[in-house]
Amino acid sequence: MTKIHRQMKNLLVTGGCGFIGTNFIQYVLENTDFDGRIVNVDKLTYAGNPENLAGTARRFGDRYIFEKVDICRFDDLRRVFERYDIDSVCHFAAESHVDRSIVGPGAFIETNILGTFNLLELARARQDRLVLFHHVSTDEVFGSLGAEGFFTEQTPYRPNSPYSASKAASDHLVRAYHKTYGLPVTVSNCSNNYGPYQFPEKLIPLMILNALAGEPLPVYGDGRNVRDWLYVSDHCRAIWTVMRHGATGETYNVGGANEMPNIEVVEMVCDILDELQPVAGPSRRDLIRFVKDRPGHDRRYAIDFSKIRESLDWTPRETFATGLEKTVRWYLEQRRWVQRVQSGAYRRWIEAQYH
Ligand code: NAD
Ligand code: DAU
Repeated sequence: MTKIHRQMKNLLVTGGCGFIGTNFIQYVLENTDFDGRIVNVDKLTYAGNPENLAGTARRFGDRYIFEKVDICRFDDLRRVFERYDIDSVCHFAAESHVDRSIVGPGAFIETNILGTFNLLELARARQDRLVLFHHVSTDEVFGSLGAEGFFTEQTPYRPNSPYSASKAASDHLVRAYHKTYGLPVTVSNCSNNYGPYQFPEKLIPLMILNALAGEPLPVYGDGRNVRDWLYVSDHCRAIWTVMRHGATGETYNVGGANEMPNIEVVEMVCDILDELQPVAGPSRRDLIRFVKDRPGHDRRYAIDFSKIRESLDWTPRETFATGLEKTVRWYLEQRRWVQRVQSGAYRRWIEAQYH
């Protein structure tokens, strides 16, 4: 079979100021043969930081454009599609944190479902020019595994949180636009990412920063819930591989072959910090506290990524030991970034800049 080589010129990236979007934009501009331009639309929620890409903007000039746009605002989004003659989309923008979806599901329904619907409608309106709509999704749509087995592309959807239900709904819409209208789409369902620029509400950066501050490390339930960790640059390379070479209409599971119970992840973080930044007295492991479990907490995720490995020759490159140490070092070095994303003053500065 001949290999697909998609050429994209005007690539719309949604949610590019978030964790994975930032890493993806840097990856594509710095490490691939893409020679077009990237238009990043982001609403700049608490999780979005345009400064992440300030260096990229300086280095790549008009090949990188930022537009502060809420994907729920159809007319604003339409203007972006028209102004930049968008021919391809990589859709990251989402409310992404499970705990927040439990406390307040409304924003998840709006951004993750209605926002995706708006993007699909605008992509459909220019279907004659559209090379690809890539949808970035999650393994959480498949629900929870017991002690055995893996999620494959054939695993039925059984989302358990408002977040994963909203992502499942968006996956279904993307599939429907392909089946009904012939929209050229691809979908990737990935496991837990970690690495630079992750907002410190997610397990790994939260534990790094709490441990550095000598604060308790809250581990939900018995700490034996299992996640499959993937270094973010491996995910970015997987997405780009699917966008360039993946079969239209197909979904691809992406994972790290790295299942770990949460408690072991937290202990590793403590040990790396004790090594890199020793403190007098007991190990940071002493800060671990078992706390009330997350409602509906999925027990185990594990990904069978043989489809992307065999058809597109993708495998993870980073080991968890090296990736976690790099990540801890990044947070140690980026104290200013951490202070800014955690500070109310920074949110007010964003408001003033972009409103
Ligand atoms: P994130 O929360 O760090 O970033 C989300 C970005 O989307 C932010 O910049 C935010 O400002 C923006 N955004 C939110 N609502 C928006 C709106 N209405 N309009 C425009 N922009 C909006 O999330 P992330 O961890 O980088 O995840 C990105 C995508 O990858 C999500 O779709 C998520 O479901 C998916 N995913 C994440 C993981 C993971 O482990 N983090 C794993 C698999 C899939
Ligand atoms: O699997 C992919 C998903 O991974 C993505 O789709 C989501 O956007 C992303 O947030 C992530 O979801 P999780 O819920 O798995 O990630 P989180 O970092 O919130 O939690 C990881 C595990 O750690 C989970 O079992 C809950 C547990 N946890 C989390 C936090 C924040 C704790 O024990 N204590 C904590 O304080």
